[in-house]
Amino acid sequence: MWGKLNFLALIEAKREGRKFDPGDIHALIREFTAGSIPDYQMAALLMAIYFRGMDSAETAALTLAMRDSGDVLTFPPDPRPLVDKHSTGGIGDKVSLPLAPLLACLGFRVPMISGRGLGITGGTLDKLDAIPGFQTRLPVAAIVRQVQQVGCVICGQTDNMVPADKKIYALRDVTGTVPSIPLITASILSKKLAENLQALVLDVKFGSAAFMPSRPAARQLARAMVTLGRQCGVNTRAVLTNMNTPLGRAAGNWLEVKESVACLAGHGPADLQELVLTCAAQLLVQTGRAQTLRAAQTRARACLATGAPRLKWDEMLAAQGADLPAFHRKLSLDHTAPVVLEFKAGRSGYVTRCDARIIGEVIRELGGGRLTRESAINFDVGVDQIAKPGDQVTPTTVLARIHAADAAAAQAALDRLPGAFAVARRRPQKSPLLVETIV
Ligand code: URA
Repeated sequence: MWGKLNFLALIEAKREGRKFDPGDIHALIREFTAGSIPDYQMAALLMAIYFRGMDSAETAALTLAMRDSGDVLTFPPDPRPLVDKHSTGGIGDKVSLPLAPLLACLGFRVPMISGRGLGITGGTLDKLDAIPGFQTRLPVAAIVRQVQQVGCVICGQTDNMVPADKKIYALRDVTGTVPSIPLITASILSKKLAENLQALVLDVKFGSAAFMPSRPAARQLARAMVTLGRQCGVNTRAVLTNMNTPLGRAAGNWLEVKESVACLAGHGPADLQELVLTCAAQLLVQTGRAQTLRAAQTRARACLATGAPRLKWDEMLAAQGADLPAFHRKLSLDHTAPVVLEFKAGRSGYVTRCDARIIGEVIRELGGGRLTRESAINFDVGVDQIAKPGDQVTPTTVLARIHAADAAAAQAALDRLPGAFAVARRRPQKSPLLVETIV
């Protein structure tokens, strides 16, 4: 039995900057998951780790111990590699939705276990909940069956997947210990490793609405995750992408589903398509299915153009219980929120700024995001027709269209949006979306 004194010794050791051996880490995760270690001691240990850090061997041991704290997916032998993507999250980031069916059509199996949003960033599961009838809570056997039969699934963690992370993250959230590179790395990768992947591509975002505000911080996190992913036997790469501006031209749960379907149908926004194709291309190269990134991009683009991923999307929806006729009826509507208001430029020139953080805050105030884990979400609200830096505008050009639950909420959003945009006479220099790849 793991005694209190031993755990205290571990806290003291980390407080003094000493390293843990893998056995200690496995024992502490096992005991904490079983409920034998009080939250106050774990919180103290997390704070010691926050200040003293962990080296790559300790972080690898922590990641594997967390992975093994619950269910790990196992799949029958199959020539199709198991792959996935993880994004650190941002405004309008809906890449997972079109990417999963595209990857399935490219010959991969995609067990995409996703999360919900907290704060201003939206979560993939919240977007999918906007689809009539769609089920995101699936048991392990159903996840495996769907991956084998359809090629892709997007669903939530089962109650018993990586329970150690659920408990530890809840403590980190309320003890100021979230922004620790080893803890973030172990948290993200333990969940991905529980999918039993061969290859993983990470989209690490930096900018005003990103978890990592600066590019160097995003690079540091990306490097740590790529190194650790490889150490744990998964071919891992990362792309660093700009999150100062929303991705695509729509943000808000249902509006993002609509834009994802447009992307699958070949008429989505260019930046969304670029990121979807890049993630697919990286995975083609990582699994040896393409020799160069350029060849891989061409193949992914051609696959999208066949229309097969759009059909695969419907197949995935049907497999997860969606009411397809109701979904298609909803797709044909211009809007599903009761009130729609346009915010216009009011002058001529070029958009020079479209601030993702402010737009994210506006969406949360409209009811589209969560203030606490328990907050209910309004799926229909959000912002679309978002103008992006470089767009040329006249006084009557719409910079954003607000979708709100009522007139007062729409007006409050309209009052805030001017702070998100800037229009100037000169065309701004283009800031690339994808700035770096960490291999
Ligand atoms: N996302 C996670 O899943 N874990 C973290 O620690 C941070 C972001």
